[in-house]
Amino acid sequence: MSAIRLAPSILAADFTRLGEAIAEAEAAGADFIHVDVMDGHFVPNITMGPVVVAAARRATKLPLDVHLMIEQPGRYIEAFAAAGADGITVHAEVAPHLHRLLQQVREQGVHVGLALNPLTPLTVLEGALPYLDLTLLMTVNPGFGGQSFIPASLERIAATRTLRDRLNPDCAIEVDGGIAPDTAFAVCRAGAQVLVAGSAVFGGAGSVRENVRKLRAAAEGDA
Ligand code: DX5
Ligand code: ZN
Repeated sequence: MSAIRLAPSILAADFTRLGEAIAEAEAAGADFIHVDVMDGHFVPNITMGPVVVAAARRATKLPLDVHLMIEQPGRYIEAFAAAGADGITVHAEVAPHLHRLLQQVREQGVHVGLALNPLTPLTVLEGALPYLDLTLLMTVNPGFGGQSFIPASLERIAATRTLRDRLNPDCAIEVDGGIAPDTAFAVCRAGAQVLVAGSAVFGGAGSVRENVRKLRAAAEGDA
């Protein structure tokens, strides 16, 4: 099994010291920095835009994994790529012309990701997988950090892993929402390869370094 990659989500970071939080995550061995973009339409919450992606770009050499939880993502793909995104993930639920949208992301020269909400049928992946570098399975309902992992996600991860192995073994499977030391091993065993974690890295007690270490140990089954 290839090494598990960790993508701390800055949504849970202290925004008064965002640069330091990102630097701590990088020093702790994070593989990506995950940026949650919300527009108050597709999801109830509003978070950050290209300005914050550009600031994150200046704070780290790690790839920026930008998760667009917005309606009409096509309007903003160019702006996020220009701000320094290395990968852009769009939601299947907002895209009636998904093929065109994925091509639009590809044309920006960034990694192409497709996200699915917890009950969105996986059948969309049968057509989409050949166009993807990343499949993001939401393991909570998108919109907020700090929610509980939805247990039924494990079967979806396993089914996605089977599809991915058959249709595009180069595509990574990322999971997002409620990922912490108590859920990390199960999602990896089911087939996840990239773990997004906000609260488990930046929230609560413990240093970022210690939190990343615990998460990685749990994911690899050493905890
Ligand atoms: C939720 C976001 C997540 C969020 C995860 O809509 O997509 O990336 O930051 O937060 P935790 O890890 O706290 O569940
Ligand atoms: Zn996210």
